[in-house]
Amino acid sequence: MTAQQSTEERREALKEVFLVARSCERCPQLAQTRTQVVFGAGNADAALMFVGEAPGRDEDEQGLPFVGRSGQLLNTLLGEIGLQRDDVFIANVLKCRPPQNRDPHPEEIERCSPYLWRQLELIQPTVVVTLGNFATKLLRGDPAGIRTIHGRAEERVLGTRRVRLFPVYHPAAALRSTVNLGELRADFARIPELIAQGAPEQPEPVDLAAEPSADDVAAARAEAAEVPPQPAAPADQPAPAESQLGLF
Ligand code: URA
Repeated sequence: MTAQQSTEERREALKEVFLVARSCERCPQLAQTRTQVVFGAGNADAALMFVGEAPGRDEDEQGLPFVGRSGQLLNTLLGEIGLQRDDVFIANVLKCRPPQNRDPHPEEIERCSPYLWRQLELIQPTVVVTLGNFATKLLRGDPAGIRTIHGRAEERVLGTRRVRLFPVYHPAAALRSTVNLGELRADFARIPELIAQGAPEQPEPVDLAAEPSADDVAAARAEAAEVPPQPAAPADQPAPAESQLGLF
């Protein structure tokens, strides 16, 4: 079980997921149009994790998340609260750039989200900041829009762990409007206090000795069906350099 894995084991497991993701072809169009998969980058043991929408052109070229204009703003906002990129982990809802930066399609989100759930499970952040509508709606499992709920921290169980979920505007929205920028900056200013609160009390661990209920079995089957196949990395793929994954 992930909860019992050491930091090193979780980090190694994250690299394995990256190896699977980087040759993913679950979305035929995106697999054709992307330059490369943008898995995510940062501190594999971060207390703070950001989830954006999808890579843009710069990210697709460089293979790293938030390296374009939105990323520069994100770096500035992080700096204003005393953090840097290697303190946090940054991922996206989609790991591939949608052509012409169109919105992610619902079926793409569904196919790609098991990677994000796995990242959350392995990194074990205590605070998850969702950047914009797509990440917020996915992780809250609710259609409430970012304009209504940005800046409202709440405890949520994501996968097996309870986290402090904090929706904020996407940096791209702040680049379009100084009002949005002011609100994003104000929301960012609250992040250190959320980190300082530490991890919320965790749900009861599953008793592995207990007889599973019919509901548990059905849920496990549904979950297994969602997780992308995890073949061993093809032998001709070299082990990823840590810098390629952007791990700190
Ligand atoms: N916008 C996103 O949502 N993610 C990125 O990685 C870059 C821009």
